Amino acid sequence: MCGIVGYIGKGNVYDILIKGLHRLEYRGYDSAGIALVDKDGKLKVYKTKGKVSNLEDYCQDKNTEAGAGIAHTRWATHGEPSDKNAHPHYSEDGNLALVHNGTIENYKILKDALEQHGCKFQSETDTEVLVQLIEYIKVKNNCSLADAVREAMNQVVGAYAIAVVEKDKPDTIIAARKSSPLVIGIGDDETFLASDATPFVEYTKDVVYLKDEEIAIIKQGEPLKVLTLDNRESKIDVTTLELSISQLEKGGYPHFMLKEIFEQPDTLRDCIRGRIIDGGGKINISGLNDNKEKFCEAKRIVIVACGTSWHAALLGKYLIQDMCRIPVEVEYASEFRYSNPVLDDKDVVIAISQSGETADTLAAAKIAREMGAFVFGISNSVGSSIPRETDSGTYIHVGPEIGVASTKAFTGQVMVLTLLALGIAQMRNTMDEAKIKEIGREVLHIPEYVQEVLKLNDTIERLSLIYTYARNFLYLGRGYSYPVALEGALKLKEISYIHAEGYPAAEMKHGPIALIDAEMPSVIIAPQDHLYEKIVSNVQQVKARGGNIIAIVTKGDTVIRNIADHVLEVPELPECLTPIITSIPLQLLSYYIAINKGKDVDMPRNLAKSVTVE
Ligand code: M6R
Repeated sequence: MCGIVGYIGKGNVYDILIKGLHRLEYRGYDSAGIALVDKDGKLKVYKTKGKVSNLEDYCQDKNTEAGAGIAHTRWATHGEPSDKNAHPHYSEDGNLALVHNGTIENYKILKDALEQHGCKFQSETDTEVLVQLIEYIKVKNNCSLADAVREAMNQVVGAYAIAVVEKDKPDTIIAARKSSPLVIGIGDDETFLASDATPFVEYTKDVVYLKDEEIAIIKQGEPLKVLTLDNRESKIDVTTLELSISQLEKGGYPHFMLKEIFEQPDTLRDCIRGRIIDGGGKINISGLNDNKEKFCEAKRIVIVACGTSWHAALLGKYLIQDMCRIPVEVEYASEFRYSNPVLDDKDVVIAISQSGETADTLAAAKIAREMGAFVFGISNSVGSSIPRETDSGTYIHVGPEIGVASTKAFTGQVMVLTLLALGIAQMRNTMDEAKIKEIGREVLHIPEYVQEVLKLNDTIERLSLIYTYARNFLYLGRGYSYPVALEGALKLKEISYIHAEGYPAAEMKHGPIALIDAEMPSVIIAPQDHLYEKIVSNVQQVKARGGNIIAIVTKGDTVIRNIADHVLEVPELPECLTPIITSIPLQLLSYYIAINKGKDVDMPRNLAKSVTVE
């Protein structure tokens, strides 16, 4: 949701910033821009609508020499994607340029006040008000840029990660954050800043995560200085990044999404590693072990998340209720935060977020903590906000997910939730030890099962050609397969722009059955489980109305094979583990349909990977 990057140092500022923007492009790609302060103190701002490659074309004949610079890739909130609304924005007198990730809630009040002082605005964005306000304060108070930023941020309501540069100051960048991420990389005589560490991982592993309401003064040749909004100096904690450059490259695949789908045997192996011991009989999740009494005494668990993570959360509900006999509620974080929730210290709230930065999930977690609940985070991104704002938690350890459509993070989240449910069941004694061991042993083989499912790739690629031009899809499942149906439909929608609905298979007859005809394919997830006989009836109901069926079934299935138009077989597994393997054919199907339609699967229109605004 907008990416910002900044650099000051001995390297080629323009090249470093452009490369950084490419790494951050997953956060938004409506427009891109760059501000460079050259050694003579000139401030040059170049920006264009569209992707970072457009900006590169635009800059080809421009002077890009610089001592410091900031850059931005945008996901539009206020004002349409256009050259004018692209960042960086600059002050009317051309003295400052600023990039911003977040939303300024009181921008209208601030803008009106500045206009009354004669200030003229160029864009429709909320961001421009920041740079105009900072410059206004700087001139009025005749103060330093850092002091002006501090005073301005004290007047701002909303979320921001900003970086500001000043004409005549090729040796300084000022940055600040509140509720939007900002990380600073400390190199050898050079300093980086960015929305996440991916732009500078090859230059330094030493990072400082800026905290809410902190301001960083980055000055070439001087140690980093961090101040709070009330002007106290903060202690600087330098942490070491665990991220390698190969994790950020496509590794021979045409798209990150395909790479990430095929990585799943390895990512699941990493996710499981060390968490099942004693040959399957003991679940070992440190965040759980350290908070045994919280989970043992919980009277209820509430899971909050958004998007794909919400689908994993729904599976978490089925898993935890089934294995641990604790009532579980699943809430969209965006609804939960404004629903006046009823929580107390006997509740456990689980916040799930791949990025760890989703604004609604973060806010929901904070509210739950304020109300006294014990909040447990499940995230992928080490050092992100949700792990820092929760009481405890765990990582899914699947490596950076770059494709906007979540794939390996979903299976990692489901894996962690499965282990969590088994672990809680073990602690609460709600499941037979032999059963836990049986499932635990199968979990250890999940990477091999996933490898087997990936062999369906060519079949699915061929199958996708038949359905590329369908205008609507229905995804149906029951029990553990219902959240998988929701996730399959979301994957198709977001990258191929085909309308798809996920539905509980038995609910279909209460409405969506009216849609069924030969034009609308149904994808039915129907592995062998305790609802198999029931879903066979649903498959027949679709067929009886002339619908085409793609069914995901357990290897050796003969009943559905005789009814469905196409079957995709997956290995037989305990019921609670089927979602991990049945979701993979759906990821591949949506990928190939989108490719057949010529869509940009890694950067689908209107979407961004990390949704840091409401
Ligand atoms: O980073 P998070 O898991 O909090 O993100 C939540 C959603 O924005 C995300 O899952 C989104 O729905 C994906 N595009 C789905 O593929």
